[in-house]
Formats: sequence, C-alpha cells, structure tokens
Amino acid sequence: VAVIDVLVVGDANPDLILRGDVLPRFGQAEQLVDSADVVLGGSAAITAHALARLGRPTRLSALTGTDAFGELTVRLLNAAGVDTTSVTQDPDLPTGLTVVLSRPDERAILTFLGAIPRLTPAQADASLVQAADEGARHLHISSFYLQPELAAGLPGLLEHARSLGLTTSLDTNFDPAERWDGLTDALTHLDLLLPNRTEVIALAARLSGTAIDDPIVAATLLAARGPVVVIKDGAHGAARIEPGGSVLHQAATPVTPVDTTGAGDTFNAAYLDSMLSGRAPAECLRRAVRAGAFSTSRAGGTAGQPTAAQLDPAIDAITDPAAESATQAANESNRKSDTEDEHAAHH
Ligand SMILES: Nc1ncnc2c1ncn2[C@@H]1O[C@H](COP(=O)(O)OP(=O)(O)OP(=O)(O)O)[C@@H](O)[C@H]1O
Ligand SMILES: [Mg+2]
Repeated sequence: VAVIDVLVVGDANPDLILRGDVLPRFGQAEQLVDSADVVLGGSAAITAHALARLGRPTRLSALTGTDAFGELTVRLLNAAGVDTTSVTQDPDLPTGLTVVLSRPDERAILTFLGAIPRLTPAQADASLVQAADEGARHLHISSFYLQPELAAGLPGLLEHARSLGLTTSLDTNFDPAERWDGLTDALTHLDLLLPNRTEVIALAARLSGTAIDDPIVAATLLAARGPVVVIKDGAHGAARIEPGGSVLHQAATPVTPVDTTGAGDTFNAAYLDSMLSGRAPAECLRRAVRAGAFSTSRAGGTAGQPTAAQLDPAIDAITDPAAESATQAANESNRKSDTEDEHAAHH
C-alpha cells in the first residue's frame, strides 16, 4: 500500500481575509471591519489540501518559520490530512503572510513572502527521493515565479522525478515581475502544465517572442515543447491541449462565486486526482472544472473544496454545485412540508 501518492512542492502561508470597510485611510484613522478570517494560503498548500480532501494521499514540501504563522500553517495542513513530513520550519526565517482586503466587487492582496523564496532545489530533491521511496507517483510544483531558487533547479528536479518513475506537473501562477522567464528548460520534463488564460498567453508570448492573444494558440506552442497544457479560464471553463495539437474544451459549471481564491489550485488537484486514477482526459477536465466551481462557493482557498463524493454525486441529475444546493434546499422544504402535512393529518 502506497503511503504517499502525490508530492506537492511550493508555497505555504496563512491568508488573513478582512471584509467590510477595508479601504485603508492613513493618518492614524482606526477603521472597524466586518470579519477577519485566517485560513490556509499558498498555491502549493491549497493544492495539497484539495488533494487530501479528495482522499488522495499527499505530502507537501514547503518552507516556513517557527513563528505563530508557521505553526498555524502546519496545523491547518495536518488537520486536513496532508502529510507535513517535508514541511521544514526554519527558526531563522519568518513565515510568509497574505492579507486580503475583500469587498464584494474587488480585492486587494498584500503579500509578504517571508520564507517562500528560500525553498531550495536541494530540499525539494530530498523530499522527492523520500516520497518516491514511499510510493509517490506524481510530483506537482506550484508558484514558479515566487521561488526563484527552486525555479533555477526545476529542470534537474523534474528530470530526477521522471527517472524515479514519477509523472510531473507545474502551475507557474502569475509572475509578479511580469517577465515570464526561465520556463523553457523545464517544459521538456513536464507531463502537464496548468496555467490560467493570462499566464498561458504571457508564457507563450515570451517563449516565441511574438504577441499572442488566443490562449489555444499559446497552449499549442507550449505543448509542442512536451507537456499536455490544461488552461483554466474562470467562468469560461477549461481546455486541454496535447503536444500533437488536439484540443478538448470543457464549459464551466455555472455558479455565482463567493470568492475565487484557490479555484485554480483546487482545479489542479481534481485534475491530478482524476489522472492518477486513470480517468479519460474529458473526465479529468469535467471533474476539475466542477472542483473549481465548488472552490468558489466559500471564502478562502480551502473551505469550499469538494470531497470525492461531492465531485462524483451518486444521483445523475446533480450536475453542478448550484443545482446541488438547490436540490438540498428543495429536499429540506419538502421535508418541512411533509412534517406540516403530517401535522395537519393528525388534527
Ligand atoms: N466564475 C466562475 N464560474 C464558474 N467556474 C469558475 C469561476 N471561476 C473559476 N471557476 C472554475 O475554477 C477554475 C479555475 O479558476 P481560474 O480560471 O480562476 O484559475 P486561476 O486563475 O489559476 O485561479 P487561482 O486564483 O487559484 O490561481 C476554472 O477553470 C473554472 O472551472
Ligand atoms: Mg492559478
């Protein structure tokens, strides 16, 4: 029995989400906000959390401090069943933190990276060797552009993973510097690249040196270097492009999002989980899109993540989270009217 199926490598930190009157006014003005929630953040951590929620045995390799934020990060991961054997807590480093100022229409995101860019290829490689020894079948990397040291060693790490029999995937996420450099050498060692619409266009434009505005054209260019490319496109759903150029589309699940934080990471987790259980590409896309929609139903990156039972409902009629809650509401009101009817019958 495999102890570990997936090793996720990358960023882990708490997210502090403030809601209400969050537009800061300087000049020592004290503002009262409506809510403050501290939840698990970091693309890699949210992905690992989603995999664990789906029942997929998952280990995270990440770097935090030993401060309160580091302790909290590890506690939230453990509580969800993520294996934290390879989360290193360095007493000399501060843990990263993201503060989200959230209004119904808009968000401002303030990130202190702390230990995140200090994760080394050596740590990742040691985690890889140990996880492979414990049965890991897949290596996923998150947040390429927040971890320049890791990014520099990524081709070697991916090559090593493949030589140990693992498949590999990467979600670069956004490049805050918007240079989109350094991916070329890693591409040939990737089985799967998981960018969003903005990212796939930026990466392909950088690689080809030409302006590109079509995400499918962009993905085709990147896929020609080796990996299957799966594009996430919010309310427009997702698409999968093979190295040979064949394209598969999947519409989004219609929902009214509460908060889209972590939708991409939750999508990634469901795609990987589906792939590892040998599902067909169209089914991988379908489950991933559905998981992304679930993720948007709650605030923060992890609260809305689905279980396997939610992703593969037993009742065929249930096809999306919105319909599911509608069905639930209908059932509840049915139950209520049943009771009322009974009540009436007794009198
Ligand atoms: N408004 C929405 N309606 C329906 N589905 C959505 C919506 N937003 C996100 N999703 C689902 O979640 C998936 C991933 O979301 P998105 O395209 O925002 O990825 P991302 O930009 O990588 O996200 P992240 O901010 O987590 O990095 C989408 O492909 C879609 O399936
Ligand atoms: Mg993303």
